[in-house]
Parts: sequence; C-alpha cells; structure tokens
Amino acid sequence: MLITIENVLTAGELASIHEILARSAWVDGFLTSGPQAAKVQRNQELPEGTETISELRRQVMAALQRNALLFAAAFPARFYPPIFNRYGGTANFFGDHVDNAVRPLPDGSGYVRRDVSATLFLTEPSEYDGGELVIEDIYGIHAVKGQAGSMVVYPSSSIHRVEPVTRGFRTSCVVWLQSMVRDAGQRRLLFDIDMALVQLRQQVGDIESVVHLTGTYHNLLRRWAET
Ligand code: NI
Repeated sequence: MLITIENVLTAGELASIHEILARSAWVDGFLTSGPQAAKVQRNQELPEGTETISELRRQVMAALQRNALLFAAAFPARFYPPIFNRYGGTANFFGDHVDNAVRPLPDGSGYVRRDVSATLFLTEPSEYDGGELVIEDIYGIHAVKGQAGSMVVYPSSSIHRVEPVTRGFRTSCVVWLQSMVRDAGQRRLLFDIDMALVQLRQQVGDIESVVHLTGTYHNLLRRWAET
C-alpha cells in the first residue's frame, strides 16, 4: 500500500532546509549502501557526521513526529536518522532494489529493522524531468513524483527505483522506520479502519456504535503492536 501525505513540511521549513542544503557538500551515495544496491545506485548523499546533517535531521524529525497520518499509516517505533540525497548530472538514478531488512545505525548504537520506507520530496516536480520514484507492490507498479514537502510511504519490502533525472536536480529525504506493527497487511487493516472511523465520527458523531468500533480498533492495535 502506498500512502501520500501532503504538506509534511511547511513552506518555511522547506525554505530553511534548502538554505542548509545549498551550503552542504555531497558525496557518492553508493558509498553508504549494501553491495547489491551499490551496483545500481548513482546518486549523491549528504555524508554522516556533519553539523548540517544534524540540523536537517532535527527539522525533518520534528515534522515527522507531529504528523498524525504518518503515525496512523506506519506506527513508528524507531527511526533510522533521515538521509538526504540528490539526483542530477551524471549521478542521476537508482535502479531496482529492495531496502535491506536490517540497517546498522550510523552511530553504532544498534540496528533498525526497516518495515516502512518513505520519500519526502524536497524539489518541486516542475524543477526537474524524470526522477519518478517507481514502486512495485502486490497491487502493481506505481510512479510517484510528489510536490515539495509531500511524502510517499510504502512497505520496505517493495522493489523500487528512481528513474534517471534528465533535467535539473531532484533532492529528497529518505526515511526508514521500524514499525510497532511488523506486518504490512495488519498495518493496512488498521489504517483503513482508522480512516473509516475518522469519517464516521465526522458524519454521525461519537454514537455508541462508533465508540464500540473505536474500542475494537484499539484492541486490534493492542494485539498487534510491539513497542
Ligand atoms: Ni531504497
């Protein structure tokens, strides 16, 4: 299941992030990925250990943690610190790959199991050609080119790629998280129930049956969530 979340970043946050990105140095992205992904990865990333990446991560994490829709869709238990990448020039694509199941944290403090992946778009689609994020899941193949500040969320188990950028530069932030609900099918059920409950509450208010259904939703979540 793919979920697009609009306006994860405000215009002010986007401007601040671009100001920091403009004075950041980029390195080859394949230096940081596993051997299989490295063969098909031709993009650039911000290196670890700089003050600029710490500040960018702080701003993005604040936006992610206040986002109720991301919580409803992904149930984040642990985040991998967001990474920032750029596609354009000769480093302009990332071929088909899966995100490895487990990734060691950059500070060596442990591991994050990647259940959910997300791309937070930082460049407006009008500023570049190509660069679609193409995701294959059980429902088919989806090509996504989101507005700056929007985010697409999908299971880390999906094969995905970024098509070559043939004009301009595409910058984005990639987010991986370990979910309280490990199974993608269970997350989907919970999200669907939650969204239907939100609509019901708006249409008929908190009548007795809605309260009961809300209780059932939480009891399912209690059954499936590991924190
Ligand atoms: Ni990936």
